[in-house]
Amino acid sequence: MMTFDSKIQAALTERREKGLQRDTQIFSRLTNNQIEQSESYSVVDTSPYVNFSSNDYLGLASDPELISVWQQGLSRYGCGSGASPAVTGLSIAHQNLQAKLCEWLGYSRAVLFNSGFSANQALLFTLLDKYDHVIQDKLNHASLIEAGMLCPASMSRFKHNDVNALSGKLAALSHTQTKLVVSEGVFSMDGDISPLAELAYQCQKYEAWLAIDDAHGIGVLGESGGGTTELLAIKPNILIVTFGKAMGLSGAAILCDENTGDFLSQFARHYVYSTAMPPAQAHTISHAISMTQQQQWRREKLVELAGIFADSLSSFSEYRATDTAIKPWICGESQQAMDLSEYLKHRGLWVGAIRPPTVPANAARLRITLNTSHSEQQISALVRGITQYYQSGHERKVSSRGRY
Ligand SMILES: Cc1ncc(COP(=O)(O)O)c(C=O)c1O
Repeated sequence: MMTFDSKIQAALTERREKGLQRDTQIFSRLTNNQIEQSESYSVVDTSPYVNFSSNDYLGLASDPELISVWQQGLSRYGCGSGASPAVTGLSIAHQNLQAKLCEWLGYSRAVLFNSGFSANQALLFTLLDKYDHVIQDKLNHASLIEAGMLCPASMSRFKHNDVNALSGKLAALSHTQTKLVVSEGVFSMDGDISPLAELAYQCQKYEAWLAIDDAHGIGVLGESGGGTTELLAIKPNILIVTFGKAMGLSGAAILCDENTGDFLSQFARHYVYSTAMPPAQAHTISHAISMTQQQQWRREKLVELAGIFADSLSSFSEYRATDTAIKPWICGESQQAMDLSEYLKHRGLWVGAIRPPTVPANAARLRITLNTSHSEQQISALVRGITQYYQSGHERKVSSRGRY
């Protein structure tokens, strides 16, 4: 019989041997785009790195105005909510946030969760039963794919952003099955945008509901930062937004109609049986939304920085053009991505390597993310670092002999 100890050991050994081990690293945060490693683990020394790996796209996480709003919120509401939403956990701060989200994104209900992961799981576990079918984009986030596999409904996956593949799968399903199509607005590892109008058309044609997780689009895209759905003027039946990325905080909301909102608040176990987010946090998220809506300059700055990045690097085969703050740099081999990441670290630039199973086999990459608070000089330093890596032939040394 296999013991838990031997099972755990085998899994850890396999991960290490495949070179896929994730090492947790501890940072102290300096300004919004600078990070410093703790002294217990250091690649070179403890001098600060420019952070090109954060999802804090608008630079709000350490914005002084937002910090002071959170401090005021703490004085006004105390630290924690003290209970789940179904008991006494919801405050006027939560109610204001729900109303603000509904008004901004054009829905009648917003149901709050402590994370995007739990919002996605709650949605699929609560909505789907064994008579239903869920169809997901192949590159959807782990929280969605896992919930689709574990929920009682049947699940299929369509080729990434391929509307014909989706259409074929929908056409093959029985008319009697209730269908849910799930995609992301902006894909987290590729930074590309889903073809929402075409997805919505297919859903209408086959009487399916459409759910869009816009974790990486909200704040970054659209005139008011309303995300991919605002940019493309599409209203899916369900919209999931998260607050841990461009909003600079954490938490999430499911936007939906009245009945679906009532249904989720009654039956979603991640909602009913979990302590509500702290009211001061809800209060601060409302303010982050106002800043996002009003401060168009943050999105304009991202576009400018992306232009500098593209002008200098678009001739490389590893470069992928995107209209978002996520700039994947596709290295292929895991070792190559790790090596480039390390090379950049030696130049004070922190860009994490993303390897399988987070991305498909042979698609290891640097996931470069731009941030409103990056300076043009910092983008130029990144461009120089990447260019010098290839000019000096490091990548050839790695592919022919392993690590140099
Ligand atoms: C597309 C997508 N959905 C959901 C999540 C989970 O959100 P959270 O970090 O709030 O749990 C992530 C986070 O990486 C994500 O990329």
